[in-house]
Amino acid sequence: MSLNGKVAVVTGSASGIGRAIALQLARDGAAVAVWDLNGEGANETVAMITASGGKAIACVGNAATAQDIASSAARTRAELGPITILVNNAGITGFCRFEEITEEMMDRMMAINIKGPFLCTQAIIPDMVAAHWGRIVNISSSSAQTGAPMMAHYATSKGGVIAFTKTLAREYAEKGITVNNIPPGFVDTPMLRASPVDVDAQAAQSPMKRAGSPEDIAAACSYLVSEAAGYVTGHTLGVNGGRVMP
Ligand SMILES: NC(=O)c1ccc[n+]([C@@H]2O[C@H](COP(=O)([O-])OP(=O)(O)OC[C@H]3O[C@@H](n4cnc5c(N)ncnc54)[C@H](O)[C@@H]3O)[C@@H](O)[C@H]2O)c1
Repeated sequence: MSLNGKVAVVTGSASGIGRAIALQLARDGAAVAVWDLNGEGANETVAMITASGGKAIACVGNAATAQDIASSAARTRAELGPITILVNNAGITGFCRFEEITEEMMDRMMAINIKGPFLCTQAIIPDMVAAHWGRIVNISSSSAQTGAPMMAHYATSKGGVIAFTKTLAREYAEKGITVNNIPPGFVDTPMLRASPVDVDAQAAQSPMKRAGSPEDIAAACSYLVSEAAGYVTGHTLGVNGGRVMP
């Protein structure tokens, strides 16, 4: 699937799923801007891409504040060119009894998981409109499809990501821009390992008897941003090993 000549932004690509997506899109031929708060991890992702012959830059900043997004977008355009692929992947998780979720916890969750994708897309979509071509993939969560106890703030934010996807898909369909989302479920990343989830026990109960890998998500993303997926928009492409069948 050739993305030669295209420029992709992947938020949260210093780690886990975002890193695997950045590596995959670079293998597909895109120049990749690695946007993340974590400069060390972002530089590592860039080094992995350049070591295998790809092109990438690291933009260190908060993908949920307008000022950082504007400066990362300006640098990406200046160094790589107009951005026509955006993967809104940066996110945080949280586990807490509903009645103990504070206003601050809720505000932080919504700021990073939903306001972040909203602002990144607003900053970048004009490039796609100008090009009459664009691909946006939002990383949501299977928790928004099934509901998830102890994750009311997280699942609510990810439900917003799915609604955001469908809305933009309709609004921009005529402009050659597709907008889809992937709700991962149980993917083996630093986020999952830092959570209270017992990875081995959950794997034993899952249909495929294993956790997902970041590369499983990256493969689906590679398809959604490709030319081949040009007639797919507003779609929720579950990559969860059969754990969720809505
Ligand atoms: N791992 C799973 O099982 C799973 C399941 C469902 C959904 N997801 C979603 O997938 C996405 C990636 O998760 P992961 O498991 O790879 O997590 P991860 O913690 O390994 O990686 C997340 C990355 O996002 C970055 N980040 C966080 N907030 C940021 C911000 N404000 N600005 C810039 N960068 C920021 C972090 O620094 C980190 O590099 C998240 O949106 C997460 O909610 C993951």
